[in-house]
Amino acid sequence: MKRLYFPNDFLIGCATSSYQVEGALHEDGRESCIWDSFSRKSDKVYQNQNGEIADDQYHLYEEDIDLMSRLGFKSYRFSIAWPRIISYGKINSLGLEHYKRLCRELHKKGMKAMATLYHWDLPQSLEDKGGWLERNTAYEFARYAKVCFEYLADDVDMWITLNEPFCSAYLGYGNGIHAPGLLGGNEIAAHHLNLAHGLAVSEYRKLGLKAPIGISLNPSIPKPSTQSMKDVYAAKIACAFQTDIYLDPLISGEYPKLLTTELGLKFPIEPDDMALIRQKIDFIGINYYSEHVVSFDEKAELRFREEPTWQEETNLQWPVVPFGLLRTLQYFAKKTGNTPLYITENGAAYDDVLAEGRVHDKKRCDYYAQHLEICNQAIEEGINLKGYFAWSFLDNYEWTYGYTKRFGIVYVDFKTQKRYPKDSAYMFRDFNNNYIEY
Ligand code: GCO
Repeated sequence: MKRLYFPNDFLIGCATSSYQVEGALHEDGRESCIWDSFSRKSDKVYQNQNGEIADDQYHLYEEDIDLMSRLGFKSYRFSIAWPRIISYGKINSLGLEHYKRLCRELHKKGMKAMATLYHWDLPQSLEDKGGWLERNTAYEFARYAKVCFEYLADDVDMWITLNEPFCSAYLGYGNGIHAPGLLGGNEIAAHHLNLAHGLAVSEYRKLGLKAPIGISLNPSIPKPSTQSMKDVYAAKIACAFQTDIYLDPLISGEYPKLLTTELGLKFPIEPDDMALIRQKIDFIGINYYSEHVVSFDEKAELRFREEPTWQEETNLQWPVVPFGLLRTLQYFAKKTGNTPLYITENGAAYDDVLAEGRVHDKKRCDYYAQHLEICNQAIEEGINLKGYFAWSFLDNYEWTYGYTKRFGIVYVDFKTQKRYPKDSAYMFRDFNNNYIEY
């Protein structure tokens, strides 16, 4: 039994993303996106499930915001769907108005709006012109971002440019397990995403807006499977490939030498790109779920492969390693000179059972309590951690897993769209006066 105290300004929130919760794919002039096409045609997606209805949050946002505010959340991290704002190359005011209404609803309930500009729903017309393999997409992103900045300047309290560029680049264009499902283009896509971030921050600064702006990464800092020099080297490569490839350009304006000089990876850098990317941002978001173990593998392209670990796993077979979050926070604090950090996602999928309106998700409660305890410890160590967002507010569309993996603290009956707070939601409700008891 414990009581964990947090600073008064510690921001507790919950998170979702547009394609995963909104539905209404054909409403108010929305263009289709790469997940619309990929989910319907790829055999990588469970039963070709897609975001057609999802949680219908496009229509149910008032009800959802009411529930989150009654659960005591102080902020909602949502994402803006690019294809709703720029549809076939044209600004779509119906899309913009939706997000204005959503932000106003949050403010009415005394909550803060944290908006992510890109959570993987690239407009299909841009993918048809090459998507993130094409440099011009970065400029298109900056144009879209500027439209949002201008129209929602008074509504959004915190901006996030990109969510997990590692996933967009590597899963989308490297190993192809996510939309658009292409192979071999990781470094090209990675650089264009980094550039997109830099160009958007430039636009933001030109407008002189004051709300904090940052980016959300999903770092991975794996452990070596043994202390042999080779395995230690493999762990370094894995960290460079998954984490520093995004973090270093932001901080030092360089790609890790381990990737460029030693492994020969090539990034399509043009003059001034790196200066744009390393512009000052106001915070970094960390999405953390798990920590992995790797060993050296001569045959692997990047010389590392994942190894089994010993911890209990969630139902995505992700080991539960709360101390991995502490290591990640320490790594970021050290590298970034204590830039403000937010956990912008943390959570777990388990097999939930709804019975008589209740879901007793004890394992998820344990997961959250353990990770919050780590946040607490990090703050005590002097790390500049300013907030924590649970992933996710609702059970939703879990990409290639369709609706089979439930990450919500609120259970969704996908047939009726009825919401049922799980025990973990009540645990967050009891996060009162800046402490949580567990
Ligand atoms: C992410 C993903 C989320 C996933 C979550 C669980 O940002 O990692 O964007 O959309 O649903 O990570 O896999």
